[in-house]
Amino acid sequence: MALNSLSSPSNYFQKTLRLSPKSTKATRSSPMVSMTSTLSSTYTEVSTHKKPFRPPHEVEDQIIHSMPSEKMEIFKSLDNWAEQNILTHLKPVESSWQPQDFLPSPASSEFYEQVEELRKRAKEIPDDYYVCLVGDLITEEALPTYQTMLNTFDGVRDETGASLTSWAIWTRGWTAEENRHGDLLKQYLYLCGRVDMRQIEKTIQYLIGCGMYIKTENSPYKGYIYTSFQERATYISHGNTARHAKHYGDQKLAQICGTIAADEKRHEAAYSKIVEKLFELDPDGAVIAFADMMKNKITMPAHLMFDGRDQRLFQHFSAVAQRLGVYSAKDYADIMEFLVRRWKVESLVGLSDEGRKAQDFVCRLVPRYRKLEERAQGRAKQGFSTVRFSWIFDREVQV
Ligand SMILES: [Fe+2]
Ligand SMILES: [Fe+2]
Repeated sequence: MALNSLSSPSNYFQKTLRLSPKSTKATRSSPMVSMTSTLSSTYTEVSTHKKPFRPPHEVEDQIIHSMPSEKMEIFKSLDNWAEQNILTHLKPVESSWQPQDFLPSPASSEFYEQVEELRKRAKEIPDDYYVCLVGDLITEEALPTYQTMLNTFDGVRDETGASLTSWAIWTRGWTAEENRHGDLLKQYLYLCGRVDMRQIEKTIQYLIGCGMYIKTENSPYKGYIYTSFQERATYISHGNTARHAKHYGDQKLAQICGTIAADEKRHEAAYSKIVEKLFELDPDGAVIAFADMMKNKITMPAHLMFDGRDQRLFQHFSAVAQRLGVYSAKDYADIMEFLVRRWKVESLVGLSDEGRKAQDFVCRLVPRYRKLEERAQGRAKQGFSTVRFSWIFDREVQV
């Protein structure tokens, strides 16, 4: 397969600009690679830092503006379509749930009693579950990064901060909905008494400072493919933490995670509908973008997380999520299979040479991922090492 030609199709990279960081610090490439932690860029470690305000993990070789500028017109022409078809996936504020609906009310005379009950239920839940829930919370809490990321996309960004294009209204509405996810999980975790809130807060501060680099290159094609994938990933992950909470007898926590999962599903529906439209209007551009994103692997949004101590925090969190089945290599392959079917990639016709190669690449990925999935499961069975997580007061958890 002509992978190289797919990764850098000439017309896609005409306006490519490489950002070369001034830093010449030691870098390492390809840290532990798993389906859940696909950090393939090189990045610089914190321990060598001389400038205190540089992020602990720095991404090198960043590429910007790879989408030909004329493609921005497609998004302008879709503004009415987005109003009719995408904004309808948002929920009006008045009929939206709020975190307080799921938490003890501080104004209630039963507040202390309710908190006591919440803490009693939390005692029945093992530490490894809390590692996953904290990782999910931290991922949600880096929301400023995700809104920033959506506003890097050419042709759909919110140009003023209060723009009335459908794309900008969507981005702000989506952000406002997402904001409740981190709020709810954080308030629950604060009350449950099982986790080190200060370490969690530090991790969030570090992560937002690091940002994220997901190789979307300012292209809404790539960006909305990424968000389709990622919303489904978070839907699966929150759905699994809901299932596990139920298993440990905590119906209320199950309801919290399940409610968040339902939001993610609604968001996935919207983003995947945008990409479906792109496949209809510009199948070549859409399939090439899809192949590029998959070739780079979908990088998880919190891939640069750091707690001030563990240099491999994200990999360790991912390993626990994999072992518990909260988010695993199987899910990655399932999502890929789902999206290939959702966008009917196999039956695309009338593609250019480059488009056909991209189609071929994408369609052959699922069986390859299934093999990697088997290997990941094998590795998980072999390993019995443990890691201390600062999020749970340095208690050890099996990875
Ligand atoms: Fe979310
Ligand atoms: Fe979401």
